[in-house]
Amino acid sequence: MKNILFIGGTGYIGGPILSRFIEREDPNLTLTALVRSPEKAEKLRKLDLRGLNLVIGSHNDATLVERLVSEADIVFSLADCDDLQAAESILRGLKRRFNATHVKPILIHMSGTGCLGDRAQGAFSSETVYNDLDIAQIETLPATQPHRNVDLAIVEADNQGYTDTYIVLPGLVFGTPHGILAREAVQNPTNLALTGFIRASFTRGAAGLHGEAKNMIAVADVTEGQHRILVLCVMIHARNVYTVADLVNILYDSVVANSAQIGHGRNGYYFVSSADVVFEKLVDVIESRAGKRRAFTQEELDLYFPNQPSLQSFFGDNGRADSARSRALGWKPVKATEEFLVALRDEVEHWQL
Ligand SMILES: NC(=O)c1ccc[n+]([C@@H]2O[C@H](COP(=O)([O-])OP(=O)(O)OC[C@H]3O[C@@H](n4cnc5c(N)ncnc54)[C@H](OP(=O)(O)O)[C@@H]3O)[C@@H](O)[C@H]2O)c1
Repeated sequence: MKNILFIGGTGYIGGPILSRFIEREDPNLTLTALVRSPEKAEKLRKLDLRGLNLVIGSHNDATLVERLVSEADIVFSLADCDDLQAAESILRGLKRRFNATHVKPILIHMSGTGCLGDRAQGAFSSETVYNDLDIAQIETLPATQPHRNVDLAIVEADNQGYTDTYIVLPGLVFGTPHGILAREAVQNPTNLALTGFIRASFTRGAAGLHGEAKNMIAVADVTEGQHRILVLCVMIHARNVYTVADLVNILYDSVVANSAQIGHGRNGYYFVSSADVVFEKLVDVIESRAGKRRAFTQEELDLYFPNQPSLQSFFGDNGRADSARSRALGWKPVKATEEFLVALRDEVEHWQL
């Protein structure tokens, strides 16, 4: 039996991940979800899902988080990659677990390629591509980069030897979530960062950008149904292995099957990027309905993205990522720039203020 705790399992990214574990129907897994919204918890309770326990509360309730984590063998931290206080509660819980069991619990934490940002403000396309197998390159990122203080605290916990940690870093995530939490309208259906950007553009009547939007960002598909391939004139439905949820599933299976072979701690960064897209292409799509492009002023950034400095700069940053370590696990990104733009076009075409 394994106890798995999900924090942020009702989010845009977390929903498909929690759904996959529910859909495993594995009698050897006990799933617990910390859910902050009583309404979402009630919807989940009504589904009467075997093996899923629900706890209503915030990840900022340190006592609660520490206790829940101390009862888990594996923790998925999917809520907020900038919340150091929540991460520290999780780490204290993992230490308690280790001290009680002498078995290292596992932490799989969702961070993001925002940490690669170079403050280009849209001025140029960078040649620099970060590679998740190149630890020395990743370690050049200072602690002041977005998400980095949390990631470094997690890696330090792994160094101390009481937990094995794995940090998953997607680029800008796109697409429609699938799985039971999406079907039952429990999870967040859209990427709030991306829809926030589109909303800001429509509200001001001008597609937003930094500088000339020459910066390049990594993108990744959230989750999707099976993809179809034509083999000898027969259409088969291949198991998809290219989304953020796929990577997390593959990572979990790999760690459980053979943890000694799987990089963790400072060797445990897993990028999730299908393609690097020039931001200008996003602006082209949004401009078609929101209005002629115009660079954001700082006042507008503060208005539309208040208290989110890393998100403000993200839209003008280069953040290119090569998911070599993730691909080595068997993750096979097949969707690229065109699929991302199709998904964005669909979102923008149906956009209503
Ligand atoms: N979306 C992207 O493109 C992207 C890319 C890279 C990295 N990331 C990072 O990945 C993480 C998840 O992103 P997302 O797009 O899935 O965000 P999201 O849709 O806002 O989901 C966040 C999840 O965390 C939960 N949560 C938030 N605050 C909480 C609290 N105080 N206590 C308990 N639960 C709390 C939310 O609960 P509710 O269900 O009640 O909202 C939701 O389940 C974030 O750290 C984000 O920065 C996102």
